[in-house]
Amino acid sequence: MARTLSMPQARGEIARDIQTAAEPTLVAQAAEFAEAVLDGLARKQRSIPSRFLYDEAGSALFEEITKLDEYYPTRTEIVLLRAFGREIAARVGPVETLVEFGSGSSRKTRLLIEALDGLKTYVPIDVSETFLAEAAEGLEADFAHLSVRPVVGDFTKTRDLNGTDAHRPLGFFSGSTIGNLTHDEAEGFLRNAAQLLGEGSTFLIGVDLQKDLDILLPAYDDARGVTASFSLNLLTRVNRELDGDFNTERFAHRALYNAEAGRIEIYLESLLDQTVHVCGQRFGFAKGERIHTENSHKYTIEGFQNLARRGGWEPMQVWTDDADLFCLHLLRRA
Ligand code: AVJ
Repeated sequence: MARTLSMPQARGEIARDIQTAAEPTLVAQAAEFAEAVLDGLARKQRSIPSRFLYDEAGSALFEEITKLDEYYPTRTEIVLLRAFGREIAARVGPVETLVEFGSGSSRKTRLLIEALDGLKTYVPIDVSETFLAEAAEGLEADFAHLSVRPVVGDFTKTRDLNGTDAHRPLGFFSGSTIGNLTHDEAEGFLRNAAQLLGEGSTFLIGVDLQKDLDILLPAYDDARGVTASFSLNLLTRVNRELDGDFNTERFAHRALYNAEAGRIEIYLESLLDQTVHVCGQRFGFAKGERIHTENSHKYTIEGFQNLARRGGWEPMQVWTDDADLFCLHLLRRA
């Protein structure tokens, strides 16, 4: 079987590549989490950055979210890539390198790679080495002429492509992950990506659209409580990694829409007056007090195009589904 034979080889190559990338040590990662949590819990509006939701359990729960009836983004984006992959490829023109920001589901990546025939190099950027290794193995096994050059790191900060000579690459940022960023952060991300991808590059970004609350709110507060488990897992992670004593039964997941900011905001709300310890520090919570854990910005087509222009990109084309739930924006470097 070609597949099993090619795997150890792929693994070896990836290990070599990963060593050359700037990889934060485990100790540095733990210190960063401790600092973010202690700092975030000391604020007036308590908060923990959303990137910490994705430990192993959190990533598995997010995967479960993407399969929920209420959670329309993932399946809609897949429908769009299936329906318009060819059209997108035609609009992009000949391209040899695909650079993916963050751990997109490999299903979406595959659809795009299939549509872009002639692709030679795939550069996934992700903090998770495990994710990168799996993605590389699977894709190199299935796309014989594709070379995978993973870059380990935070895709909002990545400054180089690990030695890959990318000439007019296509960037891909799926899942409306850009919605986790505030408008200022998203603009900064887009500027950095423009710099990284270079002159003549194009960028395909999946973006969630503004819509009625009767569709939007259940997507972030599903009937089976999977999204609640995903949020509360952050407290379980704090307990395990930072010597915390949060009782997850004393906090509730709350998702609300901030119309002025155009975003879903997710909080963990204390159900009673209580004291919690993290890393030996005490934190008192009043009943109803909240920890902000996530923002998920929703954009109109024009709103996102304006943001893209501020970030150094020129809108080329937009594809949406029939129900106007989600869209794919194709941009070119200004
Ligand atoms: C991965 C950031 C796109 O905002 O829809 C889903 C995360 N959080 N349900 C989103 C999420 C709760 C998701 N993103």
